Amino acid sequence: MLNARTIEIVKSTVPLLESANTALTEHFYRRMFRDNPELKDVFNLSHQKTGRQPAALFTAVLAYAKNIDNPAVLAAAVERIAHKHTGFSIQPEQYAIVGHHLLETIKELAPDAATPEVIDAWAQAYGALADIFIGREAQIYQDNETRPGGWRGTRAFVVKEKHAESEQITSFLLAPADGGAVVDFKPGQYLNLHLDSDTLEHKEYRQYSLCQAPNGENYRIAVKREQGGVASGFLHDQVSVGDTLQVLPPAGDFFMEVTPNTPVVLISAGVGQTPMRAMLDQLLNRQHPAPIYWLHACDNGAQHAFRQDLQATRLAHTNLETHIWYRAPLASDRPAEDFDAAGLMDLGPLREAIDLPNAHYYFCGPLPFMTMVKDTLAGWDIAAERLHYEVFGPHQSL
Ligand SMILES: Cc1cc2nc3c(=O)[nH]c(=O)nc-3n(C[C@H](O)[C@H](O)[C@H](O)COP(=O)(O)OP(=O)(O)OC[C@H]3O[C@@H](n4cnc5c(N)ncnc54)[C@H](O)[C@@H]3O)c2cc1C
Ligand code: HEM
Repeated sequence: MLNARTIEIVKSTVPLLESANTALTEHFYRRMFRDNPELKDVFNLSHQKTGRQPAALFTAVLAYAKNIDNPAVLAAAVERIAHKHTGFSIQPEQYAIVGHHLLETIKELAPDAATPEVIDAWAQAYGALADIFIGREAQIYQDNETRPGGWRGTRAFVVKEKHAESEQITSFLLAPADGGAVVDFKPGQYLNLHLDSDTLEHKEYRQYSLCQAPNGENYRIAVKREQGGVASGFLHDQVSVGDTLQVLPPAGDFFMEVTPNTPVVLISAGVGQTPMRAMLDQLLNRQHPAPIYWLHACDNGAQHAFRQDLQATRLAHTNLETHIWYRAPLASDRPAEDFDAAGLMDLGPLREAIDLPNAHYYFCGPLPFMTMVKDTLAGWDIAAERLHYEVFGPHQSL
């Protein structure tokens, strides 16, 4: 329990944190990778280069300082971060390393403000937060290990199928090398791969949303080749059927849990459709009686992953309605059959159909796309509790 004085001191440093902004977390990561270079095998270094992870950590530290006397406000963020951490196999002892570099960063960036009292207050506050994460992560590890088909740490999976779903997106069917069962997940959750190869400079952890409903036997992921992408390039070019990948258990706080009478609207762009595919698969497996909408945007037919699959599914299920936008259709793309509208996704004309009482909306895609979706739905006065989204990278609130 933090005492009132500690809370007061931590809160008093909020303006200092705000003025330092991401310089704080950028400095933190620089000194941590300098002194603990082994952590380069843990963190996603692309997220460092793009600044997205320092920004995510800064947002978290600032939110903590601001709400230190009201931890309930932080519960959702703690849950998300704890899930993210377990995908990187973060261990309790690593919290001391991070804590050390955080305190040293405060001393180095704000030597005047970093009185012994301030440092002591932050040490206590950091320790309290670290304990929350360590406790929650221990529960997740334990849960993953003890549920049927579960495991702890990495487990070898064999690539059973590798299939090009579009020009840029390839799916991989993964089954455990030991022939055992695999733990169920909630549709929307992601799998964590731990990639290690002589051809990679560092070991890499990457998250890939599970794109078919849980079946107890295997997992399917679909990976978009990113321009210059380390992991996606490796998976596309160097991983073949029969190869083995090291896999951590499914994780993630973005998932669908709906009652049978809940209308579900699944909205995606590009490879952002992957978590929605697991949701759709599960809804159809369970013969979900309420309306289901599949709204998807991509560039054109050549980029439209899982197109034939969707077309067959649509014909087989009368409560499933689909609407597809192609930004720039190819001459070979067939209007009405392959796509419904040219240009960017515009939800406006669909309002009457999809603005349903009690519907839940799940969306994923590039950040500007998700901002558009969220602004549109919030503009229709749909409550925030009915909007759910996933960011394919360090979290950012929309
Ligand atoms: C919860 C979650 C679910 C995900 N699900 C999926 C999924 O289902 N399918 C999928 O394909 N992906 C998914 N991702 C994304 C995936 O984890 C990887 O981030 C993605 O494959 C890119 O990894 P990479 O190693 O190929 O690219 P990286 O090497 O990490 O590079 C990614 C991008 O970062 C940029 N970049 C890298 N270095 C620099 C630099 N120096 N300067 C500027 N920009 C730079 C480039 O634009 C590059 O294309 C998900 C991510 C999360 C967090
Ligand atoms: C109280 C301490 C900590 C806080 C507040 C914190 C905060 C965060 C946040 C906000 C994210 C981004 C989450 C998201 O994208 O949804 C994150 C991711 C991550 N954290 Fe932590 N973290 C802490 C401790 C640690 C420790 C001890 C380690 C281990 C060295 C660690 C390693 C990581 C890694 C590897 C990621 C993913 C990075 C990426 O995707 O680029 N964190 N953390």
